[in-house]
Amino acid sequence: MPSPTRSPAWQTLADHHRAAGSLHLRDLLKDGGRSEALTFALDGLVLDLSKNRITEQTLSLLTGLAAACGVEAQRDAMAGGDAINGTENRAVLHMALRARAEDGFAVHGEVAAVLAAMAAFTAEVESGARKGATGRAFADVVNIGIGGSDQGPRLVCRALAPYRRRGLTPRFVSNIDSTDLTETLNACDPETTLFVVSSKTFTTQETMTNAMTARRWLTEALGSDAVARHFCAVTTNTEAARDFGMTEESLFGFWDWVGGRFSVWSAIGLPIALTAGMDVFRDFLAGARDMDRHFLETPLARNLPVLLALVGVWNRDFEGAAAHAVLPYDQLLEGLPGYLQQLEMESNGKAVDRDGAPVARPTAPVVFGQAGTNGQHAFYQLLHQGTDLVSADFIAAVHAANPAGDHQDKLLANFLAQTRALALGRDAGPDVPPHKVFPGNRPTTSILVDRLDPRALGMLLALYEHKVFVQGVLWNVNSFDQFGVELGKELATPLLGALARGGEPEDLDASTRALLNRIRTVRGDGDGGGRA
Ligand code: F6P
Repeated sequence: MPSPTRSPAWQTLADHHRAAGSLHLRDLLKDGGRSEALTFALDGLVLDLSKNRITEQTLSLLTGLAAACGVEAQRDAMAGGDAINGTENRAVLHMALRARAEDGFAVHGEVAAVLAAMAAFTAEVESGARKGATGRAFADVVNIGIGGSDQGPRLVCRALAPYRRRGLTPRFVSNIDSTDLTETLNACDPETTLFVVSSKTFTTQETMTNAMTARRWLTEALGSDAVARHFCAVTTNTEAARDFGMTEESLFGFWDWVGGRFSVWSAIGLPIALTAGMDVFRDFLAGARDMDRHFLETPLARNLPVLLALVGVWNRDFEGAAAHAVLPYDQLLEGLPGYLQQLEMESNGKAVDRDGAPVARPTAPVVFGQAGTNGQHAFYQLLHQGTDLVSADFIAAVHAANPAGDHQDKLLANFLAQTRALALGRDAGPDVPPHKVFPGNRPTTSILVDRLDPRALGMLLALYEHKVFVQGVLWNVNSFDQFGVELGKELATPLLGALARGGEPEDLDASTRALLNRIRTVRGDGDGGGRA
């Protein structure tokens, strides 16, 4: 298939972009019908694209591009279980994780069985039938995982904190830096701590190192028999988990057709179920399922994930925005920028297309962000007056989860004002010196939900998952592998050997050698150059 970015539809858009070069959002927003024409909604989730530098014609040309690129056929291939992850020859079926039997996914039986096991386990912990080795009820659930085995449950447990059951606190350890584990364990009591070791592969260095140190912490306090009661695992590698000491009822499987960054809907969501309850987890799945149905059944021109993806491609490839900010005006969504960073950058941060050829156009932007209004007092200066164009998603809930005085009014006023300021800007004038000029014309998308309940959260995350999929189709990259993380891991192995035992990896470059030697000098390593 020829690269979509070299297609006539792409060329037409490039011509359209040139012709629309002088448009300013200040003028576009004078059109009273613009908001209605460029705002789309699904079950209380509103997607307002009207503060992007687009017209209805732009959207129609972009939709034409999506059709020409075969988005619908590729979407259906994904849903049908084709091995669309070509480099790893795997299907991509995270939609099956939240589907009902009648949705027709062949893997439904396996998914339902794991959900049933999660429900049973959760009920046991909740009822106290499953306790710690000394007979005390669990008080802390410590998830040990990294990347997709951390970000999803971490984000959702935080976002759904108002739904949390009393008595069980979710905690997350991901970094190989021992501070992460040590500080977490300092807040826990071995007798009342339940560990969930989450790793698709059960080989990831950070997770396995943290899990083994946590096991030592537990066994030093309670003896090795306690491991079976205090540890459970979520993994596709159940054999390795058994070797670690997990018992059958503490093992939750998932499958190679679930990518790590798409796995929060699987048993990787166990900390959510344990701390907020299985009903909340099922509502979260139901929200994602609603978005799936919309994605699978709605024409491209009204399809929210497709439109979000198309506007993203417009901003990235035609407007030249190399960075994209995720700005949730909701403290409960403070994990969203990090979560979407992995989802978007690990999926589409690629320079080689699905045929192995260099891509013709830029792919994923740098994704970053922070909860509003904190970001306003940090990096918004650059968004408003910097030399680079940065696109942004502003996300808010109408109702506060924890209402207090006029906080929510002030939060929403800022949410509204910032996108206005970015769009309209402010011209120079007698009272406006150059440093107070705002160019405006900076593209933003506003996403509004009524309240951040489990269903809305599920919809929101599935919206972004499908956006990433559609962009992968438009850029013709495989969104489901991540070989870019391999080289650094490989190079760390001989360096670890050098740090632990001395010596030097072959072909070490001068810069790394100097840094290695500096570390050794500061540590006072022996003559051999290692700790040993
Ligand atoms: O960063 C690479 C990666 O493979 C991610 O895609 C994944 O989410 C993470 O590592 C953790 O992997 P695992 O779940 O196998 O421990």
